[in-house]
Amino acid sequence: MTALLEIEKLTVQFGSATLTDRILRRRARVLRAVDDLSLTLEQGEALAVVGESGCGKSTLARAIVGLVPIASGRVHFDGMDIAGGRDRSTRRRIQMVFQDPGSSLNPSLTVRNTLAEVLKVHSMVPADRIGERCAELMDLVELPPAILDARPQRLSGGQKQRIGIARALAAEPDLLIADEAVAALDVSVQASVLNLLRQLRHRLGLTLLFISHDLAVVRNLCDRVAVMYLGTVVEESNTEEVFGNPRHPYTRALLSAVPRIGVKKTSGEAALAGEPPSPLALPLGCRFHPRCPIAAEVCRIEEPLLESRQQHAARCHFAWESTEPITIGEQP
Ligand SMILES: Nc1ncnc2c1ncn2[C@@H]1O[C@H](COP(=O)(O)OP(=O)(O)OP(=O)(O)O)[C@@H](O)[C@H]1O
Ligand code: SF4
Ligand SMILES: [Mg+2]
Repeated sequence: MTALLEIEKLTVQFGSATLTDRILRRRARVLRAVDDLSLTLEQGEALAVVGESGCGKSTLARAIVGLVPIASGRVHFDGMDIAGGRDRSTRRRIQMVFQDPGSSLNPSLTVRNTLAEVLKVHSMVPADRIGERCAELMDLVELPPAILDARPQRLSGGQKQRIGIARALAAEPDLLIADEAVAALDVSVQASVLNLLRQLRHRLGLTLLFISHDLAVVRNLCDRVAVMYLGTVVEESNTEEVFGNPRHPYTRALLSAVPRIGVKKTSGEAALAGEPPSPLALPLGCRFHPRCPIAAEVCRIEEPLLESRQQHAARCHFAWESTEPITIGEQP
């Protein structure tokens, strides 16, 4: 397999010295939304990035597509360094689907014009083939051609998200980044859009970076899962391993919140308590320690490294203490 996207020690930060900071000569408050994060995405692979609200998932996506500046680190796409900027062809090859299909579509444009705009900007087809290509795109996202003449306000949430996907596919990308693409949809609509993404991924050979706060939705779509906490990856492996043999207490807590038929929670696997600390005031040592049910003294002092065993990585001092799979629940 060849790596399509390689992210190495990526840091994205917000905030700089305000006028008050300068007058009071105090240090600027810098928020590290993505902190020294490394990830690799192979050609044709689907990687899920999961974690609670505010852990830096969207900032990571925005850094990959060039919407936020990178403070440090490397981002390589198909062998090219794109951390400092990217050419038009690379911009076309990385497309994004956003969470809110309503606000990401221009309300004054018909679906046909929304798609035609992308086809023209990237010179995807000759002018006389635009109509035909728009119809093909509708077919690809399983919508009737009559919708091409509609404006977004006439469409349901699921239809709008299918248009969002068609718009991204109009540019014939190699990498599709879906940022909470189904979070705003009803559960049944979520399932049909996830199913569509699964089919498209195989049919078009897409590489997919699928961002979600909900582990349940990624299980049948993605090959690998990276779990983020406060700007950094705390666990990463193939989907089966992350669900069946989670090594990080944070992943276990996230999984214990995923309802599973016939499985009840054990008392030792409480769901996540409280909110994550502010990224403006990261705890010393392991950044998960204030919420970790098994935190020990060392966790308050020493930050654990992301350690790998057989293609399974976890950032916890005790991740590899036992070689036995950790059970999350017990049969009733
Ligand atoms: N433009 C910005 N300026 C300042 N802080 C920002 C900015 N964008 C994001 N942040 C902060 O960076 C952190 C990460 O935010 P981000 O939106 O990437 O998280 P997320 O994981 O996508 O959350 P959600 O699941 O709610 O979408 C948060 O603390 C957020 O407040
Ligand atoms: S290093 Fe310690 S605090 Fe952090 S996750 Fe592991 S056990 Fe919990
Ligand atoms: Mg987000």
